[in-house]
Amino acid sequence: MHDEPDMSAVPALPDRGLVRDRLGRPMRDLRISVMDRCNFRCPYCMPRETFHERYRFLKSSERLSFEEIARTARVAVGLGVRKIRLTGGEPLLRAGLAELVAEISTIEGVDDIALTTNGVLLANHAAELKGNGLHRVTVSLDSLDEAVFERMNGGFGGLHQVLDGIEAALEAGLGPVKVNAVVKRGVNDHTVLPLLERFRGTAVIVRLIEFMDVGNRNSWRPDAVVPSSELLDSIRARWPVSALPGRIRGEVAERYAYDDGAGEIGFISSVTAPFCGDCSRARLSSEGVFYTCLFASQGTDLRSPLRAGAADDELLALIRRAWTGRDDRYSELRDPKDAVEHPLRKIEMHYIGG
Ligand SMILES: C[S@@+](CC[C@H](N)C(=O)[O-])C[C@H]1O[C@@H](n2cnc3c(N)ncnc32)[C@H](O)[C@@H]1O
Ligand code: SF4
Repeated sequence: MHDEPDMSAVPALPDRGLVRDRLGRPMRDLRISVMDRCNFRCPYCMPRETFHERYRFLKSSERLSFEEIARTARVAVGLGVRKIRLTGGEPLLRAGLAELVAEISTIEGVDDIALTTNGVLLANHAAELKGNGLHRVTVSLDSLDEAVFERMNGGFGGLHQVLDGIEAALEAGLGPVKVNAVVKRGVNDHTVLPLLERFRGTAVIVRLIEFMDVGNRNSWRPDAVVPSSELLDSIRARWPVSALPGRIRGEVAERYAYDDGAGEIGFISSVTAPFCGDCSRARLSSEGVFYTCLFASQGTDLRSPLRAGAADDELLALIRRAWTGRDDRYSELRDPKDAVEHPLRKIEMHYIGG
């Protein structure tokens, strides 16, 4: 059951355009899935058994065009969005992605444009993306052990391309580059320390992510989650680290610094320490549905009004209504037993955008 929000605690709106949801949270970030397809089949995200050759991905006419995406982003910025992240599926499979970056970079009010990618195609695109206005990149890399890397991504090679992609991003000035590693018990947990070691003392920040029950098809089980606290204990046995003060509002990672000055590590603990309380992220699927939570089961279709000639004000009203009605806090309410036995029908992550 959701608790009734205490509306007296909702701060006054400082600006006409800013929206807050029913729990007082502003809409600051927009994550846009530009592509539902992927060149990996990570079992925790797009397991092969479901996402096989005959799986029906969107036709290109069903995906939002760059123009439609940029227009939606511009409207969302009018309601308070300041950060835009392009994701997927694999966003670099979308031809001409740098053109979309250029378009978004012209939107007044956008402070930050970021990309999340598996990195396989990044080396070819990093310089152009930077030139067109991309600020930062997050590269997913679950292990440096080739066999484990392949097990985590559904049987594909590409480790060296991913590492080249990280180098290219650093050279292009897309730093600090973040590396996201999902940790699954018994699969890649024994390779976490070597991953950290590789990037200690560089401009790359590794973030360790608890395996989440996103979508309905990734066979999530609580015992496959390695709690961040457990990882922290094994890291501390190797290198002294200290917590960095307070999370930036809306920031998902708890941050720790190596005491010897070799950089920092992030922990994203959506399962054991959920951070719904200050979640300011909205999501736009590749098909143009606006969602207010990663674990949503329904959203607001924007593609139909976009294609029916809706004015900006009409789009703005739809987004405003969706956000002001928002009371999602799935991770805080999740009961691990329920998540396995009575899963909600959630939207798959490749489609809604991770
Ligand atoms: C869905 S992917 C999309 C972008 C790109 N394909 C990539 O892998 O970086 C975005 C992020 O979500 C993470 N992710 C996917 N499924 C997850 C799960 N079940 N639990 C935790 N993180 C997950 C991925 O590791 C990745 O860092
Ligand atoms: S996590 Fe990223 S790379 Fe892996 S299957 Fe999902 S979308 Fe593809």
